[in-house]
Amino acid sequence: MIGPEEKQAVLNVLDSGMLAQGPRVEAFEAAFAEKCGTKYAVATTSGTTALQLALLAHGIGEGHEVITTPFTFIASANSILYTGARPVFVDVDPNTFTIDPEKIERAITPATRAIMPVHLFGLCCDMDAIQTIASKHGLVVIEDACQSHAAEYKGKKAGSFGTGAFSFYATKNMTTGEGGMITTDDEAIADQCRILRQHGMRVRYYHEQLGYNFRMTDIQAAIGLEQLKKLDQFNDSRIRNARFLSENLCGVTLPTVPNAYKHVYHQYTIRVANKRRDALLAHLHDKGIGTGIFYPVQVHQQSFYRKELGYSVSLPQSEKVAGEVLSLPVHPGLGDSDLLAIVQAVNEFAQSL
Ligand SMILES: Cc1ncc(COP(=O)(O)O)c(C=O)c1O
Repeated sequence: MIGPEEKQAVLNVLDSGMLAQGPRVEAFEAAFAEKCGTKYAVATTSGTTALQLALLAHGIGEGHEVITTPFTFIASANSILYTGARPVFVDVDPNTFTIDPEKIERAITPATRAIMPVHLFGLCCDMDAIQTIASKHGLVVIEDACQSHAAEYKGKKAGSFGTGAFSFYATKNMTTGEGGMITTDDEAIADQCRILRQHGMRVRYYHEQLGYNFRMTDIQAAIGLEQLKKLDQFNDSRIRNARFLSENLCGVTLPTVPNAYKHVYHQYTIRVANKRRDALLAHLHDKGIGTGIFYPVQVHQQSFYRKELGYSVSLPQSEKVAGEVLSLPVHPGLGDSDLLAIVQAVNEFAQSL
């Protein structure tokens, strides 16, 4: 939700004449790092490029494998492909929709360099278990926190466990239109991300390595600074809306929130047995309630991954939940009557069975 504060902030940038990466980007990075409880944050053009730079900064590339989840937006896995490395998919816990740590160790090979847990829908992964496996095997942890701004696991923020990557795409819990951020406590990683973001240069026009133009503009950062001030308020409304839904919905499987996790409900995702899911989707559509299926096809089953990259692995839990998930509206713009209408429509459907 964009308000007068964001509009004024953009006008101020336009008046300043400093449109490209400048002082607002630096201020946004400092404020975002503070919010996540990390020493550094490096802004980029998107969540995808944040993931890509994080992987590259850790030296991941050709010949390496990165363990991740198939139950995510394609960008998580594609960012691994961009570096020349290969994503290795590990099945999910069907209750939390996040990577099942018990299955990670079996997927480790001599080529494994990193684990990329995805904090899906606003819920963190089981980070104690993941960090234990990572340190036992000397692996890097790169958190895909693109959907989990200010989500918490045991009092610690998403993006502060390893190297974090966030997206500020328009539908995220906070936005800059398009944009991304890397978070880290490691000065060398932050430094390498900054160099890679700017065509491999530390000193203007002296290029030390192959880099990219992944710079954020001051216009985006100005919006981000205002959005960040409102993030807690946005998340609180999402959490309030989710609580109302969970207290009142019947006949469907509600989202699971393990103890000591703070879910920030980027999505409020229920499960409904396969055939009934599509009927409920149609029913809600008829009632004018916007729903989403995130994600109908798991990454390892996408045609490009199957046909071009030869993936044929079977991951039964993620494949099963893909046919059952349905995300209901939970955004901060919902009013009491909207929430009631969602509950009535879902319950009416459940009772009609
Ligand atoms: C889990 C996940 N990873 C990565 C991305 C990529 O972020 P962006 O769209 O900003 O490139 C997204 C955004 O949609 C996402 O949801």
